[in-house]
Amino acid sequence: MAKITYEGKTFDCAEDKSVLECLEGNGFKIPSSCRAGVCQACVMTATSGTPCAKSQEGLTPNQIELNQFMSCSCKPTADIEVALEEIKKAYSCSVTEQIMLNERTLLLRMTVPNAFSYKAGQFVNVIRKKDGLMRSYSIASVPEDDYIEMHVRCYEDGKMSSWLKGWIEPGCELHFTGPFGECFYTDDKPEADILLAGIGTGMAPLYGIAKDALQKGHTGKISIIQGAMSEEGLYFTKEFAELAATADNCEYISSTVDGSGDGVQEGKIDDVVKANFPSTAGMRVYVCGSPNTVGRLKKYAFMAGASMSDIFSDPFTQASE
Ligand SMILES: Cc1cc2nc3c(=O)[nH]c(=O)nc-3n(C[C@H](O)[C@H](O)[C@H](O)COP(=O)(O)OP(=O)(O)OC[C@H]3O[C@@H](n4cnc5c(N)ncnc54)[C@H](O)[C@@H]3O)c2cc1C
Ligand code: FES
Repeated sequence: MAKITYEGKTFDCAEDKSVLECLEGNGFKIPSSCRAGVCQACVMTATSGTPCAKSQEGLTPNQIELNQFMSCSCKPTADIEVALEEIKKAYSCSVTEQIMLNERTLLLRMTVPNAFSYKAGQFVNVIRKKDGLMRSYSIASVPEDDYIEMHVRCYEDGKMSSWLKGWIEPGCELHFTGPFGECFYTDDKPEADILLAGIGTGMAPLYGIAKDALQKGHTGKISIIQGAMSEEGLYFTKEFAELAATADNCEYISSTVDGSGDGVQEGKIDDVVKANFPSTAGMRVYVCGSPNTVGRLKKYAFMAGASMSDIFSDPFTQASE
């Protein structure tokens, strides 16, 4: 059985337990959210020993060089000594706008904290200071904007989303760490066609990525596809249509499963993507939203010809604490 050393104490770690679970089981409070190796809230540093490769997937080369790893997805097979990441600096910002975009989607705009830089489409981990609750939210703005924008899907029993909806108002201070994630526009293939497909608040990072690509003068065709069960589930349709109207090479398609809504294509987003893109060869593909939909769309994009290195995604994995 591997041993974990943390804050000068050593613990046995059962084979089926992660570093995070072992430390929590021994009474430590380690930041976490998705517990699935996606959000990076639980990043720690291995000060001795080697974290498993899986727990470093998605980290930057710099983080890997520093021996950082995600403690929720590291089940150690050999002894390891770990420390909480020291560079985990939380930024503070002030909320400037808080409006409902539809019945369940909240738009939050905030000031950009000093020295905070990001790429459109990345995400941050919002922290509720009073108890350390942490959740990931993607950034819908672009670095050129003088605000940071997030779109939050509100769940009635959602700890973070109901707090953001019920308690946060303009003037409130908000804290977050980040930015994280590899789902953003890069201008190394300006002529490649781009497909951005998402459902729910998965549209937030896609809006930022499309805006960024257009601002950087992308010449390939940019197609944005939004999916929902019905008209009520669509949001930001006017903003997407306006964005697409700013350039001849950009199109916006909204779709609903039941066919409701003006000018929508009828069908499940998977079928709408397939019908509009029978081939994705040579394309850059971005998919965001619920993990199941993201998984299916990624698979289709690959099977239809896109190279795996040209497929970027952010599955909005649900937190499980
Ligand atoms: C990389 C990443 C980026 C993300 N970006 C965004 C974003 O831009 N906008 C956004 O709204 N969310 C985003 N999420 C999801 C977000 O981090 C939270 O999981 C979500 O807001 C729910 O948190 P909560 O505290 O409100 O709910 P919790 O308290 O965590 O959950 C309470 C209950 O809410 C319901 N619930 C929560 N999440 C889901 C779900 N996904 N599907 C169905 N039911 C659910 C369930 O009933 C659950 O029991 C992202 C997640 C990741 C990993
Ligand atoms: S990556 Fe470990 S809690 Fe999200």
